[in-house]
Amino acid sequence: MIKIAPSILSADFARLGEEIRAVEAAGADYIHVDVMDGHFVPNITIGPPVVKSLRKVATRPLDVHLMISPVDPYVPEFARAGAGILTIHAESTLHLDRTLNLVRESGCRVGISLNPATPLVVLEDVLGLVDMVLLMSVNPGFGGQSFIPATLNRIRRVRGLIEASGRPIELEVDGGIKADNIAAAARAGADVFVSGSGIYGEPDYAAIIQRMRREAEVGLAAGV
Ligand code: DX5
Ligand code: ZN
Repeated sequence: MIKIAPSILSADFARLGEEIRAVEAAGADYIHVDVMDGHFVPNITIGPPVVKSLRKVATRPLDVHLMISPVDPYVPEFARAGAGILTIHAESTLHLDRTLNLVRESGCRVGISLNPATPLVVLEDVLGLVDMVLLMSVNPGFGGQSFIPATLNRIRRVRGLIEASGRPIELEVDGGIKADNIAAAARAGADVFVSGSGIYGEPDYAAIIQRMRREAEVGLAAGV
């Protein structure tokens, strides 16, 4: 099952509600919300009050991607604000087991994200605690960057770890995903695709989401 998660980072922030309704009507499965703190990543975006407002508009799960450090103090607040999936970065916490358990206790689905150069071995002992792995395919901080090709090999390896775990863990890829490279990411084993500029930068959201889904399905059928 392919899922498309438009990132509102590339939406018109003056019209966030409308922009969410528009991608939902166009077929979005998740609404990807990028939270940045100017410390863990060199950019600042939004906090819990905005997530709370978005929750009132969105009918799809909010896929909240926390690029903040420290992260633990804010987990309960983002959960209360209405995050459906709460993803934290392995690099953002010294006590990964504690942070992942905190997310679980908050009632959200649990995601773990890794930057492009973080060794995948960090996943081995925590896959039992997560519902989603989010592999960054750009260095986090900004929309509109180019997909890092080495990510494909990382997707393949994480897909192998997930299969070996026997758990129903989603594998999301985030950064530089467009209609012309989504098939390769799907073929490598990703099943959830974040796209910001690739969707919000296009004039017809329904046409681009449909095209991305079709391309991803072709990639998926071609197999890992
Ligand atoms: C980057 C964010 C991404 C970003 C994706 O730090 O985590 O979600 O918005 O944007 P595009 O698809 O434009 O690379
Ligand atoms: Zn993101």
